[in-house]
Amino acid sequence: MAKEWFNDWFDENYLLIYKHRDMEDAGLQFNLILREVVPEKGWKILDLACGEGRYSYLFNNKGYNITGLDLSETLIKSGKEKFPGLKLRVCDMREISGNYDLILSLFTSFGYFEDEKEDRKVISGVYNSLNPRGLFWLDFFNSDFIKNTREKESSTRIIDGVVVKEERYIKGGRINKKIIIGSDSGKKEYFETVRMYSKNELVEMMNSNGLEVVKIFGDYTGSDWEEKSERVILVCRKVV
Ligand SMILES: C[S@@+](CC[C@H](N)C(=O)[O-])C[C@H]1O[C@@H](n2cnc3c(N)ncnc32)[C@H](O)[C@@H]1O
Repeated sequence: MAKEWFNDWFDENYLLIYKHRDMEDAGLQFNLILREVVPEKGWKILDLACGEGRYSYLFNNKGYNITGLDLSETLIKSGKEKFPGLKLRVCDMREISGNYDLILSLFTSFGYFEDEKEDRKVISGVYNSLNPRGLFWLDFFNSDFIKNTREKESSTRIIDGVVVKEERYIKGGRINKKIIIGSDSGKKEYFETVRMYSKNELVEMMNSNGLEVVKIFGDYTGSDWEEKSERVILVCRKVV
C-alpha cells in the first residue's frame, strides 16, 4: 500500500510542534468526559489514535482500565518510555476489534483518509468493537469555525530553537497544511490533510453506523455547540 501522509507526520517533529498539547491541555477534556459520561471503574476503555497516550495516562492514573492504540511506532515507543505501565500498542484505526464500553477519538484523530469510505470503516469498526449500549466520544474540529477564521494562513515560528514554517489552506473539502521544520540541509517537509466534515455530516455518519448522538459540545468546557464553536464533540451511544 502507498505511504500516506499520516505514516510520516506523526514522529518526533509532531511532538515538537504540538508540545503545548500536553497533559494540562488534555486535563480539560478529561474532566469533561468524567463529568458527562461518568465511566465506571470496571469499564474497558479504548483511546483510539492515542499518540503518546496523554489521555490514557490520565485515565489510568485514576484507576480506569484503558488501552491506547496508534499507528505511529515513534509515538507509541515514546509513550511507553514516558508512561511505564500503560497499555499502548501499534494498530491502524481501521483494524480495531474488541469489546469496549467506551471508545475515545480525541484531538482530531479522524478524517485522515483520502477515500471517505476509509473514515466510515473506522466508524463501523468502532460500532463493532463496542459492547451493547457502549459509548463513543468523538472530538473533531468545527469546520464552520475553520472556514470563517483560517481560509489561508502561513506562519514562521521558532520552537526550542528550531524554525517551523507552516502554510495552511483549504482545498478539495480538506484543510491542508504544509510544514517545514529546520533549515538548510537539515530541513524536513511534511504534509497534513484532514477532511472538513461538518457537524451534520459527522452526525449522519454516526447515525448511519448504528451510533445515536446523545450530546454535542462545542468546546472542552462543555459549552453547547454553535456555528462559531472551535470543536465538534459528539457523544454517541451504540444502538442495539
Ligand atoms: C492529532 S494526533 C492526536 C493524538 C492523541 N489523541 C492526543 O490527543 O494526544 C493524531 C494521532 O492519530 C494517529 N494516527 C494517524 N493515522 C492513524 C491510523 N491510520 N491509525 C491509527 N492511528 C493513526 C497519529 O499517529 C497521531 O498519534
